[in-house]
Amino acid sequence: MSNKKKILVIQPIHKAGIDLLEKHPKFDFEVIENLDASNINSKISECDALSIRTAKLSAALIEEAKNLKIISRHGVGYDNIDTEASKRKNITLTITANSNAVAVAEHVMFMLLNISKRKEMYDSSVKSGRFDERNKLPKTIELWNKSILIAGFGRIGQCLIKRCKGFEMNVFVYDPYISNEIIENLGGKKVDNLAETIKSMDAISLHIPLNNETENLINYDLLKTMKKNCIIINAARGGIINEEDLNKALNENLIFGAGLDVFTIEPPSKDNPLLNNPKVMLSPHTAAFTEECMTRMGKETIQNIIDFFDEKLDKSKIIKL
Ligand SMILES: NC(=O)c1ccc[n+]([C@@H]2O[C@H](COP(=O)([O-])OP(=O)(O)OC[C@H]3O[C@@H](n4cnc5c(N)ncnc54)[C@H](O)[C@@H]3O)[C@@H](O)[C@H]2O)c1
Repeated sequence: MSNKKKILVIQPIHKAGIDLLEKHPKFDFEVIENLDASNINSKISECDALSIRTAKLSAALIEEAKNLKIISRHGVGYDNIDTEASKRKNITLTITANSNAVAVAEHVMFMLLNISKRKEMYDSSVKSGRFDERNKLPKTIELWNKSILIAGFGRIGQCLIKRCKGFEMNVFVYDPYISNEIIENLGGKKVDNLAETIKSMDAISLHIPLNNETENLINYDLLKTMKKNCIIINAARGGIINEEDLNKALNENLIFGAGLDVFTIEPPSKDNPLLNNPKVMLSPHTAAFTEECMTRMGKETIQNIIDFFDEKLDKSKIIKL
C-alpha cells in the first residue's frame, strides 16, 4: 500500500498549483469537479489534506474525513467551511493570504470608475449611433477629492487605499481592530461610528468578513441616510448588504449606484431584481479571477499543504479556530 499523503483538490485550480502536486514525491492527488456532497463524501474519508475553493464543507463532511489534518482554502474568506467541526477535530485551516488583495482592490477601482463614468450608458450611445446625444446624457462623476469609506482594513482594504490615494480621494477607514497608526501611515483617517460616517461619504467599499455581526450591516435604515451621489461596492461577501433594501434604495434614487461581486445566494436567483437594475454593476464573484491572482492562489493553496507537512507553514496563513 502506498504511504503517500492523499490530497484532495475540491474544484479545479490553476495548473501552476497542479504542477506542484505532480512533482511532489510524497503526494497522491485527485481533483474533484462534481461537487455533490455524496461525491465529496465518497472521497474525503481517506484524504490527509484538502484544498477547497467555494464549495461548502459541512460539519458532516468534516466528520467523515478520518485522516484530514489540513484544510487549505483557495482564497481568504472561509465562511464555506464549518469552523466548529474543524476545531473539534483539531484540523488546521489555512488561507492564501498573500494572493488576493491586489486583484480585489483593482476590481473595486474598476467598478467605481465604471459606475461613476456611467460606462454602459455612454458606451451604448456611441455604439447605437446616438453620438449627438452626448450633451443630453446625465453627467458623470469624478473621484478626485471625493470621500470614500473603506470598511475593513485588512489585506484588501490596505491595498485599496493606495489606489484611492492615487486618485486623490479622501479616505476614511472603519475597522475597530486596526490601529490609528497603521491607518494614518497609509493616508487614511480612522472613524469609529459607521452610521454617522456613512452620511457624508461619496463612496463606500466593504472589505469585512461575513458573520453574525456583519450580516445585513448595510440595510435600508443606513442606505436612506447616504448621499444621493453615493456609490457602494461589495466585493467582500454577499449578505453584508441586504439586497432587497439595496434595490429599493436604488429605485428610490437614495444613492447613485452599486457594484456587487458577491451575492447572498450564489449564483443569484433569476428573479433577483438587482439583475435588471441599470444602476447596479455586477460580476460573478470574480474579483480575484485575474490570470495573475489565479496563478498565485493555485500555487499558494498547495504550497500551504506542502509547508504544513514540512512543519514550516507561516503562522500568518493559519486561521485561529
Ligand atoms: N470577491 C472576492 O473574490 C474576494 C476575494 C478575496 C476576499 N474576499 C473577501 O474580502 C473580505 C476581506 O478580505 P481580506 O483578505 O482583506 O481580509 P482580512 O482578514 O485581511 O481583513 C478583514 C478586516 O476586517 C476587519 N473587520 C472584521 N470585522 C469587522 C467589522 N464588524 N467592522 C469593521 N471591520 C471589521 C478586520 O479587523 C480586518 O482588518 C473578506 O470578506 C473576504 O471573504 C472576497
